Amino acid sequence: MNPLDDTRRLELLRAARLARAHAYAPYSRFRVGAAVLCGDGRIVPGCNVENSSFGLTVCAERVAIGAAIAQGATGFHAIAIAASPPAMPCGACRQTLVEFNPDMVVLIAGPDGDLDETREMRAADLLPDSFRFEP
Ligand code: THU
Repeated sequence: MNPLDDTRRLELLRAARLARAHAYAPYSRFRVGAAVLCGDGRIVPGCNVENSSFGLTVCAERVAIGAAIAQGATGFHAIAIAASPPAMPCGACRQTLVEFNPDMVVLIAGPDGDLDETREMRAADLLPDSFRFEP
């Protein structure tokens, strides 16, 4: 079974958009939602969490991945990211996605719209020649 059919893609988008409503972004006012599809089919959401000490801000993608890890989930197949306008993942998030699965499918979407308005890429293509800790 393909774990990422269009039904799953739409579920991921919906979860990312719902999570976006929970974003804590009083400084930038740029709300981002994410949702990760885990190996067992679970979908785990995240949103950006800012701080008055701006550098402490955590992106939606890393909140979703961290929450999934904390739930014991593994084998991440895909992540959806929703923002307005659509946002490409930052460098730190790209490194985090590649850490868990270079083949992870990354869906980049706006606040609404269908799959034909969603960009789809692969984590490793977003971060070529990524760092690997191989002593
Ligand atoms: N942000 C994310 O949550 N994900 C991204 O991929 C890019 C940026 C957040 C961080 C910050 O809260 C706001 O967007 C503006 O940078």
